Amino acid sequence: MQGQILAGKRGVISGALDPDSIAWKIAEQCVAQGAKITLTNAPVALRFGQLKELGEQLNAEVIPADATSLEDMENLFTKSQEVLGGKLDFVLHSIGMSLNVRKGKEYTNLKHDWMQKTFDISAISFHKMMQVLYNGDYMSDWGSILGLTYIAAQRTFPDYSEMAESKALLESFARSFGYHFGVKNHVRVNTISQSPTMTTAGKGVKGFTEFFGYADKMSPLGNAPADACAQYAVSLFSDLTRYVTMQNLYHDGGFSNMGMSPALLEDNDASDS
Ligand SMILES: NC(=O)c1ccc[n+]([C@@H]2O[C@H](COP(=O)([O-])OP(=O)(O)OC[C@H]3O[C@@H](n4cnc5c(N)ncnc54)[C@H](O)[C@@H]3O)[C@@H](O)[C@H]2O)c1
Repeated sequence: MQGQILAGKRGVISGALDPDSIAWKIAEQCVAQGAKITLTNAPVALRFGQLKELGEQLNAEVIPADATSLEDMENLFTKSQEVLGGKLDFVLHSIGMSLNVRKGKEYTNLKHDWMQKTFDISAISFHKMMQVLYNGDYMSDWGSILGLTYIAAQRTFPDYSEMAESKALLESFARSFGYHFGVKNHVRVNTISQSPTMTTAGKGVKGFTEFFGYADKMSPLGNAPADACAQYAVSLFSDLTRYVTMQNLYHDGGFSNMGMSPALLEDNDASDS
């Protein structure tokens, strides 16, 4: 169809677990914009999640892969090339998990073997993914690789715990690999720093519901919903953003540049009186 900004493009979307997942919306919008995609998630997530349904809905092959395994990544991209019929134009990393957060551990009393697992799943997997893509020459010239992150990489949000360091690492991998991919074949690498979003990963953070409301009031445009994040991701996969690379891009309704919001002060005044 004319006017589809991803017409003829091939991509791999990780991290769609259920219809709330940000990756779920990105997958739907990529296909609506004319792309052919494969979907992937950890084998365990395929058992508990609803990815198969999304695959059927979008006519997309589902390829199980643990993002911490180089072998699984190699298999994922080889199969994706076969199924899609050529090199990849875009790849989404939408993966995060922390056992310390999930089990409610205080930041001052974390289990460090779990922390290493968190970094491996939530950040090092991005490097692994890109290393396999780079060495296997899987990406088309002028392709686009995208990761999802959160502003806790720059500012302190106590309940986000070790995921803050994971995101700092993830964003740094985007910049460093962005250089290598840029000079190799003009592939760009960016991260979107997204508003708090009601997903399985989001709701796992202590006090998330209250914080969601706070961030909404702090942002002049309100929290950016997952659907809008998907539109932004599609633009970054398209040819309309070919010279954007090595950036951490805030998609947060303005939250990141706010200092104080009168809307929150009004709330305090109301509860004081
Ligand atoms: N929800 C938010 O508030 C928010 C805000 C900013 C950024 N993000 C980021 O967005 C991304 C997607 O999260 P979401 O909010 O859509 O939640 P989600 O729970 O729907 O997605 C997280 C995904 O990571 C997958 N995953 C976990 N371990 C894996 C492994 N070993 N191999 C492969 N996949 C694995 C899960 O199965 C799941 O599909 C994450 O990077 C998250 O940190 C989320």
